Amino acid sequence: MHRTSLSNILILFILILGSVIAGPEDWRIALCISEDPQHQMNVSWRTQRQIDTPLVQVTPNLPQVNFDKQAVDITAQTEVVVRSDGSLVYAYSAKMNGLNPSTAYAYRVGSKDEWSEWFVFETANNTETSFRFLYLGDPQNGLLTHVPRAIRAGYKEAPDAAFLTMAGDLVSVPGIDKQWEDLFHAGSWIFGTIPLVPVMGNHAYFIDGKWLDEHSTYWQPHFTLPKNGLATLPETNYYFQYQGMLFVVLNGNEQLDEQAIWLDEVLSQSEAGWFIVSMHQPLYSTAKGREGTKRRDAFLSVFDNHEVDLILQGHDHSFGRTYPLRNGKQVKGRQKGTVYINSVSGSKQYLLEPAIDGVFEVTGSEQQFYHVIDVQPSKLKLSSFTVDGELKDQIIIKPSRNR
Ligand SMILES: [Fe+2]
Ligand SMILES: [Fe+2]
Repeated sequence: MHRTSLSNILILFILILGSVIAGPEDWRIALCISEDPQHQMNVSWRTQRQIDTPLVQVTPNLPQVNFDKQAVDITAQTEVVVRSDGSLVYAYSAKMNGLNPSTAYAYRVGSKDEWSEWFVFETANNTETSFRFLYLGDPQNGLLTHVPRAIRAGYKEAPDAAFLTMAGDLVSVPGIDKQWEDLFHAGSWIFGTIPLVPVMGNHAYFIDGKWLDEHSTYWQPHFTLPKNGLATLPETNYYFQYQGMLFVVLNGNEQLDEQAIWLDEVLSQSEAGWFIVSMHQPLYSTAKGREGTKRRDAFLSVFDNHEVDLILQGHDHSFGRTYPLRNGKQVKGRQKGTVYINSVSGSKQYLLEPAIDGVFEVTGSEQQFYHVIDVQPSKLKLSSFTVDGELKDQIIIKPSRNR
């Protein structure tokens, strides 16, 4: 073989090897919501070769090319993760705090030797001004085929989204590291740009072909989330307030009664104008043969008593948006009800067959969806789109008068 061709092949091999072994391609950078999004954002990433002094740099996002001169160094914490094949990877987490409200910041992760690109995010405002956010149902399957277009369509619709919540089953088999790699490939730089609000699904408990009582150890290394929920459910049960809205994430898999008591306290103490809850498993099923009453028994009375405005769910691999409900029935007249939505963003689809008649106002199946929620002081607008950008459903929700 010609010497030039050989050296070209060698260079190509080194480049490919470099991108597989390490480098920002599989760093899985996740910007994550914090308990104080006016002043703090969190970030996680991971590498295959250990970084001795992992750092995050953060600085106001100024137009000048030397914007990075005043960047502040934050030392990240390292967690060693043992993969199912016994190999080690290194996960890092850091909290960017002391930030100013309603301000754009640039940040990057890495070390003095190797950095990611600069990502830009904006902190929450300190007043109850309007904003919007993105919601996706289960990604889970088709992570490299179907999920990317759902995430990108959502981003195209709402590039200014304050955060992106995904209602559980982020991957199908969480012990397989490749599935997480695929998820982060699907989210790409969008996951580093829009703060994530991940919700834990039942598949987080599907380990080595069995359903276990404890969730995958791959959850915490990939995200840095508030730890203000039950101490026994760190980073899977949490809440934050964002410009007049209280957003609560429940872990629908375990300790339901304990979380119901906790939720009642959190909602009782909140002065937010809007209450939104996300939990993976729906209270009202859209799919054939999946009616379960556990979550209804635990949470329905709390949702009703506090007039929670909206519940974002997944699990049934289909789409359904209920009428405003109270105790499972459509509300009458000017009575306040709770709107529940089930959705799916991945390729796995279940046969549509709502378990209870008269609950869903609109349903859909065999399609992927994304949703934009506009939060304003006087109204909340839930817009549901199919992945091609067509508006499938829209509902305006009025605030509770008892709050
Ligand atoms: Fe699922
Ligand atoms: Fe599920």
